[in-house]
Amino acid sequence: MAAPRVLFRRPLLSAFRFSSGLRNTIPLPPSPLRVSVSSVARSFSSSPAIQSPSKMPSTESLVELAKGRHSIYKLGKESPVPDSKIEELVNQAILSVPSAFNTQSTRLVVLLHQEHERLWDIATECFETLVKNGTVPEEVFKNQTQPKLQGFRNAVGTILFYEDPAHIQPFKEKFPTYKDQFEPWAQHTNAMHQYFLWIGLESLGFGANLQHYNPLIDAAVAKQWDVPTDYKLIAQLVFGKPEQEAQEKPKKPVEERVKIYGRL
Ligand SMILES: Cc1cc2nc3c(=O)[nH]c(=O)nc-3n(C[C@H](O)[C@H](O)[C@H](O)COP(=O)(O)O)c2cc1C
Repeated sequence: MAAPRVLFRRPLLSAFRFSSGLRNTIPLPPSPLRVSVSSVARSFSSSPAIQSPSKMPSTESLVELAKGRHSIYKLGKESPVPDSKIEELVNQAILSVPSAFNTQSTRLVVLLHQEHERLWDIATECFETLVKNGTVPEEVFKNQTQPKLQGFRNAVGTILFYEDPAHIQPFKEKFPTYKDQFEPWAQHTNAMHQYFLWIGLESLGFGANLQHYNPLIDAAVAKQWDVPTDYKLIAQLVFGKPEQEAQEKPKKPVEERVKIYGRL
């Protein structure tokens, strides 16, 4: 196994299971995941990191990014930025994206270059096993699956989005009224990380597409990158140099999907 840039560490007692490897490369504040919920409560005036509205980036920039996001499947290996920019963006996702009750249960594994290629080799190997045991017809694999997987492999990197149940379960016990909500909320926060990183990667000049080869690849991926086996793999965001024009998909009318009451 090639040396991973991001490692997981047992035991669960460690609230933040990444090794210091990533943290050595990017200056990070003390891990917020180590801070208890009560100790992060700050008075309004002692929050220097929060920007005043006048200093906020423009809504236009946000809307442009949102409008410019498309699923791009033809991706190349040329990276528009150094890898450190990707790391900064991923760290900002982890630090900025909210979670229900501040559970902070999302975990991200970033696979770049050869490690990314290994991921899509693993996916190919998983499908080859399915072909061998007759679950997937060879024709389908050769004509459809393999070219698709090869397309993903041609890109720069993949971000794996996980949820860590060890950071969801205690909240179910502590807040039994909401116990059935914590799982869907974990999915929500995970999706927020996905969207942040999708448009964030776009802002760096990448194209991206979102994939779901879980649970087929889960065990092999966990083994390859030392991911705790209880982590739940939710999605894979593939990114690389965009090598096709974005295709605008048809949109259903806004009026059918948005209602505004009380507009002045
Ligand atoms: C929750 C979610 C799951 C998706 N799953 C997949 C997927 O498994 N494979 C895929 O190729 N695209 C997937 N997509 C991409 C959508 O098909 C795509 O975003 C949608 O058709 C709109 O196209 P656009 O991304 O170009 O705007 C997913 C998107 C979302 C939001």
